[in-house]
Amino acid sequence: MHLIPDRGFQHPHPSEITPRDLALNRRQWLAAAGATALALPAAGTAGAQVARPGKLAALPGARSAVPGASTIEKLTAHGDATSYNNFYEFGTDKSDPARNAHTLKTRPWTVAIEGEVRKPGSFDIDTLLKMAPMEERIYRLRCVEGWSMVIPWVGWSLAELIKRVEPTGNARFVQFVTLADRAQMPGLRSSVLDWPYVEGLRMDEAMHPLTMLAFGMYGEVMPNQNGAPVRLVVPWKYGFKSGKSLVKIRFVEKQPKTSWEVSAPEEYGFYSNVNPKVDHPRWSQATERRIGDGGGLFAKRLATQMFNGYEPQVGQLYAGMDLKKFY
Ligand code: MTE
Repeated sequence: MHLIPDRGFQHPHPSEITPRDLALNRRQWLAAAGATALALPAAGTAGAQVARPGKLAALPGARSAVPGASTIEKLTAHGDATSYNNFYEFGTDKSDPARNAHTLKTRPWTVAIEGEVRKPGSFDIDTLLKMAPMEERIYRLRCVEGWSMVIPWVGWSLAELIKRVEPTGNARFVQFVTLADRAQMPGLRSSVLDWPYVEGLRMDEAMHPLTMLAFGMYGEVMPNQNGAPVRLVVPWKYGFKSGKSLVKIRFVEKQPKTSWEVSAPEEYGFYSNVNPKVDHPRWSQATERRIGDGGGLFAKRLATQMFNGYEPQVGQLYAGMDLKKFY
């Protein structure tokens, strides 16, 4: 199975759209950011930056102090971010996850920690939620298919969890395993991918403060179709590195296999850093279409940035590496 190049946005059903004004425009955001900065001068303690859509339980997060964690671009409308998804366990069509993911049971839920750690074990999701203070981070998400969104995630740096489980000296990579339960996930009946959906990071990538365990978005708990109850968000890599509905985090010595690599190794490498200079074998990666910027094949496209614009924060992780080889 292959991911497909972006052929233009099919607008969601009107009932799925929330009012456009939920997405703050740049000027409103700057005003809000300025106001909270005045009220609470200490970095990282300011209140949330976005209005809640009021669809799910609130999950507030304080504005993050992590460098690069708050872009000032216009947010993607909540209705678009929750109706145009990739979550193959619920079907391969962009509208399938929103339609089918209501069968996902997010409680009880545990995340197992395995492998090269001094403190392996299993965390109940409600314990994990309280492990570190919730932060709101506005990240660009660039899909390998050529579209992107700007989403206010709620969660905290994966490094917080990694430090607590004390990796051994043998832990060089981290593998992320997501839920594969046929009873809840109709997409598993198809063999589009080798289930469960697995992904991986190098240890230093996993420890980078921008790498996030996200429990919510837009000030609310994670919608099922976006990867409830907890997913990864790695903003400088193509979206497929950010596994949804995580059940296991495994610390390993050797570079782990990933589902997309197994499915098409020439197309999806382990690193998968956003890189406008390395084309996908079947399409260019030089530009992207921001979801919500108007539909159709002829919509205005933006230039894709190296590392999705996070080069100042993550570029040094790849110093000396040939990124055409390690794509
Ligand atoms: N995680 C799982 N478990 N299954 C998937 O199919 N798709 C990935 C990623 N995580 C996927 C997944 C891809 S290709 C992308 S682009 C992002 O999720 C999409 O996230 P979003 O739907 O929240 O925008």
